[in-house]
Amino acid sequence: MISLRFLLCFIFVSSVYATIVSHDGRAITIDGHRRVLLSGSIHYPRSTPEMWPDLIKKGKEGGLDAIETYVFWNAHEPTRRQYDFSGKLDLIRFLKTIQDEGLYGVLRIGPYACAEWNYGGFPVWLHNMPGMVFRTTNKAFMDEMQNFTTMIVDMVKKENLFASQGGPIILAQIENEYGNVMGPYGESGKAYIKWCANMAQSLNVGVPWIMCQQNDAPHPMLNTCNGFYCDNFVPNNPNTPKMWTENWTGWFKQWGGKNPHRTTEDVAFSVARFFQRGGTFNNYYMYHGGTNFDRTAGGPYITTSYDYDAPLDEYGNLNQPKYGHLKQLHDVLHSMEKTLTYGNISTIDFGNSASATIYKTKEGSSCFFGNGNENSDATISFRGESYVVPAWSITILPDCKNEAYNTAKITTQTSMMVKKPNEAEDTPSTLKWSWRPENMDNFVLKGKGESTQTQLFDQKVVTNDQSDYLWYMTTVKFKKRDPFLGKNMSLRVNCTAPVLHAFVNGKYIGNQHAENGKFNYIFEKDVKFKSGRNVIALLSITVGLANYGAFFESKPAGITGPISITGRNVDETIVKDLSAHKWSYKTGLNGFENQLFRTESMSKWSAPLGNDPVVVDLLGLGKGTAWVNGNNIGRYWPAFISSENGDNTLVLFEEMGGNPSLVNFQTTRVGSVCANVYEKNTIELSCDRKPISAIKFASFGNPDGNCGSFEKGTCESSNNTVDILTQECVGKEKCIIDVSTEKLGAPDCTGSARRLAVEAIC
Ligand code: GAL
Repeated sequence: MISLRFLLCFIFVSSVYATIVSHDGRAITIDGHRRVLLSGSIHYPRSTPEMWPDLIKKGKEGGLDAIETYVFWNAHEPTRRQYDFSGKLDLIRFLKTIQDEGLYGVLRIGPYACAEWNYGGFPVWLHNMPGMVFRTTNKAFMDEMQNFTTMIVDMVKKENLFASQGGPIILAQIENEYGNVMGPYGESGKAYIKWCANMAQSLNVGVPWIMCQQNDAPHPMLNTCNGFYCDNFVPNNPNTPKMWTENWTGWFKQWGGKNPHRTTEDVAFSVARFFQRGGTFNNYYMYHGGTNFDRTAGGPYITTSYDYDAPLDEYGNLNQPKYGHLKQLHDVLHSMEKTLTYGNISTIDFGNSASATIYKTKEGSSCFFGNGNENSDATISFRGESYVVPAWSITILPDCKNEAYNTAKITTQTSMMVKKPNEAEDTPSTLKWSWRPENMDNFVLKGKGESTQTQLFDQKVVTNDQSDYLWYMTTVKFKKRDPFLGKNMSLRVNCTAPVLHAFVNGKYIGNQHAENGKFNYIFEKDVKFKSGRNVIALLSITVGLANYGAFFESKPAGITGPISITGRNVDETIVKDLSAHKWSYKTGLNGFENQLFRTESMSKWSAPLGNDPVVVDLLGLGKGTAWVNGNNIGRYWPAFISSENGDNTLVLFEEMGGNPSLVNFQTTRVGSVCANVYEKNTIELSCDRKPISAIKFASFGNPDGNCGSFEKGTCESSNNTVDILTQECVGKEKCIIDVSTEKLGAPDCTGSARRLAVEAIC
C-alpha cells in the first residue's frame, strides 16, 4: 500500500512538473533534477532530413543535452493559410529525431527569427496586408502572429512533444531580441511585449517561455542573454536562472566578406566564465549552421553558406578542435552538476583580473580559477597549492584540487579539411554544358509586363517575394526635332536594388550593385535615345531581404526612384523625371517560369562515390542560382549532399556572364590532422572513420610552428617519435597517445613546457 501511494505521487510529480525553474532561480529543473544544460542550435531547413540524425547524434556525442531551433514562418506559410511542412520543413520529424536521440529540445517559435534568414522569417504577403506594421500593437499583425504561433503550438501538442506531455521540448521562446530594437516603437512596443507574454501564456504549453534580450520581460517570461560573452548578465527577475540563448560560436558571412572565425579557446573561455558566474543554460548559436538553400538567405547579402565556424561545419563534419575541446568542457561541467546547481558560491579576488570561485555543498566543492587578463598568466595560490592559469583562460577543478580542464590548453586535434575531385568512373573531369539564353525580347524590346502603374513600387509589393527578379519597364517618346536628342543624354536611376541591370531599346547599357554596405546608390549611364518610341527596361534583383532592425520590414528594396533622363546642350540642361510615367512590371524570369532546371535534355554526370559530403565548386562563375536534380541549392557557391548514386544534372542560371568550364564536383573530408599538446596529457588522433595513412611530422620537445608547418625546436627526445607514432597510429581509424617520457623518451630539455607536435595524413 505504501509503495503504491509513493508510485502515484511520483507519476503526478513527473507529469506535471517536467520543466520548471528552481525556487531559488539557480537552475532549470527537469523531472525534479536541477540541471546544467548545454544546448546547440541546429536549424532544420538548413540541412536535409537525411542529415538530421547524424547531426543530432554528433551533438549528443559532443556533450549536448539539448538542440535548439527557430521556426521559420515564411517557409511554412508561403501563401496566406497555405502551409508547407514537407521535406526540410518537416518540423515534427526534426523534433522527433531529437527525441529519438534522447536529447531535449528548445523551440524558439518567434515567429520573428532574425537568423540571417530571408526577411527574418516573416512572409512578405504579411507586409503587403493593408495597414500592416510588424512587431507592435497592430491588430492585423497580432492576429496573424497569434494564428501562426497557435498553429505551431497545436501541432507540437498533438504529437505530445512538450516536456509537460512527456516530450523533449523543455523551453519555448516568443519574439526574439525585441529589447534590442524596441526604443523606436515607443509605448506601443512596451504594450506589444506584454501582449506577446499573455498570448504565449494563454497557449498553455506547460514549459517555461523565454524572451531573449528582453530586460522588461513580464513575469513569468524568462529573460535570457545573447552575445559573445554573457557572464555579466543578470536576468530582470533575480529569481530566474541565468540563461544564455545565443553564444555565438563564430559569425555569419556576407557576399564579399571574409570567412568568420572565433577561436576555440575564446568560445570555451566564454562558456567556462558563464558557469563560473552562476550560469545554468548555455546554447551555442550555431552548433551546426548549415546551408541557406534556395532563396532562404537573409539580407543584405547573406551568403548561401551559413557555416558560422560552428563546432559542426556546413557539411556536418567535426570542426576540430572546436568540437572536441567543447566536448571536454561539457563533460567536466556535467560532472559538477550537483555542486553547480545547489552549492553555495564564494569568490576570491586575487587582483589583476584573477579570481577563484568555489561552489560548495555538504558533499564537496568544485572550483573555477579565472584569469581575465588578456596578456599575462596568473599564478593562483589556493589551499597550499600553486596553479598557473594562462592569460584569458579558466581552469576548472571539479574537486578544487586537481586541474581537469583549462580553456586555453587544447588537447584536441586540429583537422584540416580537403576537397577532392569527383572520382566517379564515368564522369569526365570537366562537366559537359548545354545552355539556353534567357529570352528577354518582350521586356527589353517591347517593354511588355504583367501589370502597369504610374508609380515606382517597392519590389516586395509587386513580387510578394516570389522571385529575386523584377522588370521595371517604360517607354519614352522623343520628337524628331527634339533639340536634345542624340546629344549628351544620360539615364539616371536612384536605386535600392542590390543588383541592377539596365537596357535601352534592347541594348544592354550596364549593371551596378550595392557595395560597402550602402544599399542606396545612383546608377547613371550615357544613352543614345532615338526619335519616336524608346523602351527602358530595368531588371532589379534582390539578394535576400533585410532581417534585422526596428521596422526592417519597410526597408526599401528595388527601384524606388526617382528615375530621370538628362539632356544637355551648350547652354541648357534639362531633366525629364520618369518616376510617374506609366511603368510596366514583370516578376521573375522565363527560365525560372519554364522550369529549365527540370530539363531532361541535360547531359548527366555521376555523383561522387562514397559517403563524403559533396560540394560543387562554382569557380569562374559570376552570380546566379544553381539547381541539382531540380532542387534549388541556392545563390552562388552552393553546396549539396548527394544521398544516392545515379544520373544527376546541375543547372546554373548565370546572370553576369561567367565561364562554367572550371565548375566541378568535389567531396570534402579530413585531409590531415595535427596536435600540439603539453606533456602529461593524452591526445587522440582520428581521421573521421578513415584510416590514418602516414605520420608526416612528430617531435617531442619544444617544436615550433603550426599545423602544416611544424618544425623541430632546439631539443627533442632521442627516440624516433615518427616511428613510435607510425606504429601506434598508421592503418588505424584512431589512436590515443600518452604525451609522456615513458611513451616517447626524454627530450634533452627540462621544464614544464615540453610538447608533442604531430601531423598525420589521412
Ligand atoms: C542575433 C539573432 C540571431 C542571429 C544572430 C546573428 O541577434 O537573435 O537570430 O541573427 O544575431 O547571427
